Amino acid sequence: MKEKYVLTSGYHEQLLCNGSNVSRSKSSTRWLREHFKDEYVKRAHAGGLRSRAVFKLEEILARDRLLKPGMRVVDLGAAPGSWSQAVRAKLGDTGQVIALDILPIQGIHGVEFLQGDFREPEVLLRLEAALKGERLDLVLSDMAPNLSGIEVADQARTMELADRALDFARRWLKPDGALLIKLFQGAGIDQFICDLRRDFRRVSMRKPKASRTRSRETYALVRGRRA
Ligand SMILES: C[S@@+](CC[C@H](N)C(=O)[O-])C[C@H]1O[C@@H](n2cnc3c(N)ncnc32)[C@H](O)[C@@H]1O
Repeated sequence: MKEKYVLTSGYHEQLLCNGSNVSRSKSSTRWLREHFKDEYVKRAHAGGLRSRAVFKLEEILARDRLLKPGMRVVDLGAAPGSWSQAVRAKLGDTGQVIALDILPIQGIHGVEFLQGDFREPEVLLRLEAALKGERLDLVLSDMAPNLSGIEVADQARTMELADRALDFARRWLKPDGALLIKLFQGAGIDQFICDLRRDFRRVSMRKPKASRTRSRETYALVRGRRA
């Protein structure tokens, strides 16, 4: 049975679609027009998928062969849940998938969901408890803050989330594990990529086709944690 979701490619878009907290500025009207013409939105809608964001992950998973049966995966910034759903489908009944978000998600069979702010120590402790001391094969972070429109502040908040996800991955990834992390081009990204190169042997940048060309969004894929 298809789930009913407002189709979004992420949190900001979800807020825009919800409408009440948004004045219909020219840019949001343009965004809505583009959104409903978007081929990935149409494909997600036709497939009953939770978000067009799934096509970004699927392209990267296919290209980089990141998933194997039995893997243990954490999905940070998981709502509305399309990445977790895709990962669970690819793992079948094997492995473990833990998803975390500030926002609630509709349950996904075989996915353990934790609701909370990843920046809160208590939330991190809950996540770490769910790992039961076992290291991870893959950490996904599609986290993005709710944008204020003040570019300097938004970029700083984005980089803070990325730093925290990297710190988590450093502590919990297996030596041959991988981290896929969303970044936005802007202040701090060059230093962040230097940090990734310092900590991991292989660092690649990915801009999947479903990631809008005019969006500053990009993904870093890193593997091979240095000892
Ligand atoms: C682009 S959406 C993720 C879409 C998701 N990958 C999917 O496929 O459905 C970004 C998510 O990051 C979450 N997020 C932002 N800041 C967060 C934080 N501090 N802790 C946990 N989640 C956060 C938002 O609530 C939002 O759901």
